[in-house]
Amino acid sequence: MSNKTEKNLAFAFAAESKAAARNSVFAIKAKRDGYPQFSHLFKAVAEAESVHARRYLRLMRGKIGTTEENLESAFKSEIKAYLEEYPRLIKEASEEGMDVPKKAFSESRDVENRHAELYKSAINDLLSDRISAYYVCQICGYISEAKAPEKCPVCGAIKEKFKEIE
Ligand SMILES: [Fe+2]
Ligand SMILES: [Fe+2]
Repeated sequence: MSNKTEKNLAFAFAAESKAAARNSVFAIKAKRDGYPQFSHLFKAVAEAESVHARRYLRLMRGKIGTTEENLESAFKSEIKAYLEEYPRLIKEASEEGMDVPKKAFSESRDVENRHAELYKSAINDLLSDRISAYYVCQICGYISEAKAPEKCPVCGAIKEKFKEIE
């Protein structure tokens, strides 16, 4: 594949991923504003943009490996976010006195560490057939295994804010 096509696939993947997230947030806002039908539409388009994003990712070279390789690369990217990327964002938000983004970055950094732990134990457990339930905090992204905690250990959200992954 030509470099240009590689670059275009990467561009389309990033753009569609962003559009999917943006439309999901628009859907929540429409619902809160009392427009269930528009919320539904935003959700449908968000899903469609995710279909596009996944399609481009599959076409990009070297992005999807065996499950063992994918666990390893997912683990590494969590560690990078935890040790390098978020610390810089936190520092810069702090320097600018941006407390709300700083809190969001800090909580995400802590959660990335938790994600790394979960991947690590999955890598160690690769051959076992244990199936765990997972609950995701809808405020900060913290993942709890087996059951939703009374209170999120990272952001303090109540139990009802945890969504079970089917
Ligand atoms: Fe993560
Ligand atoms: Fe949380």
